[in-house]
Amino acid sequence: MFDAEKFIEKAVEEIKSKVKGKAVIATSGGVDSTVAAKIGSMALGENLVAIYVDTGYMRKGEGEKVKKIVEGMGIKLRYVDASKEFYEALKGVTDPEQKRKIIGEKFIRVFEREALEEKAEYLIQGTIAPDWIESGGGLRDTIKSHHNVGGLPPDINLEIVEPLRDLYKDEVRKVARALGLEVAEKQPFPGPGLAVRIIGEATEEKAKVIREACHIVEEEIEKAAEEKKMSKPWQYFAVLLPVKTVGVHGDRRAYGHTIAIRSVESVDAMTADFSHIPYEVLDRISTRITNELNEVNRIVYDITNKPPGTVEWE
Ligand code: XMP
Repeated sequence: MFDAEKFIEKAVEEIKSKVKGKAVIATSGGVDSTVAAKIGSMALGENLVAIYVDTGYMRKGEGEKVKKIVEGMGIKLRYVDASKEFYEALKGVTDPEQKRKIIGEKFIRVFEREALEEKAEYLIQGTIAPDWIESGGGLRDTIKSHHNVGGLPPDINLEIVEPLRDLYKDEVRKVARALGLEVAEKQPFPGPGLAVRIIGEATEEKAKVIREACHIVEEEIEKAAEEKKMSKPWQYFAVLLPVKTVGVHGDRRAYGHTIAIRSVESVDAMTADFSHIPYEVLDRISTRITNELNEVNRIVYDITNKPPGTVEWE
């Protein structure tokens, strides 16, 4: 049986023994990085600085939320808006693995730059077991390069410490609850962010569309769950497809984007089943997205389990 209290104790000791100086932590507002930040701050106190990088592919309002959470834990926050750099680096790139690697590398370079200013030598990361297993860790095949694993360049100048490396998602949530963190029940969000929810080139314009679409999916599903029309799925979001279709807006011909809704039930992200969302809720989501986003005129629902599909489309 996994014992969260014991794990916290051991993780704090591990960080104390490994980190001899100042450390930075990549904080994204998700469960993994928030738990790693909390444990890091328990071990290092003021020697830990959190860095939030706005890659341009973050969820709507995420930056503000992270500020509140991190500062609420008494950790100093460095807020970096690097969105233009990321959009530039991904110009013309369509291959999913290449996108992941570019984002991972850019991310770590931004970190190095910011960490240098903080005079830090260590980087604490919230990497969990499925991240490195699916990135080809051990004897397995690379399914996809998780951005906090496969994207790391070999010449990184920060020593990496990964206190959650052996944990699965359900265990991280148990640790989060034991630490009294509100983010314990928050749905997962991939390291490369919305860039892997834009199939093909992840332009700034497309990032704006998918950010709004994901926000609508979250709002409608959470509302339906609160109203007991359904239970809250494990993960739920939108994906922008590189397919344009013909439609009508009023009495005019439209030629717009297609959005897929993805929602799954899972325990550890290694396998997943698509959620049976009530049609009424799907209807609300579809109507809102096509009404609020002029560029979109078709919505489809993804009914693929994992395996064979992965949760994210890229
Ligand atoms: P897949 O798409 O591999 O996703 O079935 C499994 C879970 O992991 C999340 N995910 C990531 N998490 N870095 C992360 O920290 C990544 O690069 C990454 N890619 C996918 C995904 O959202 C799902 O919860």
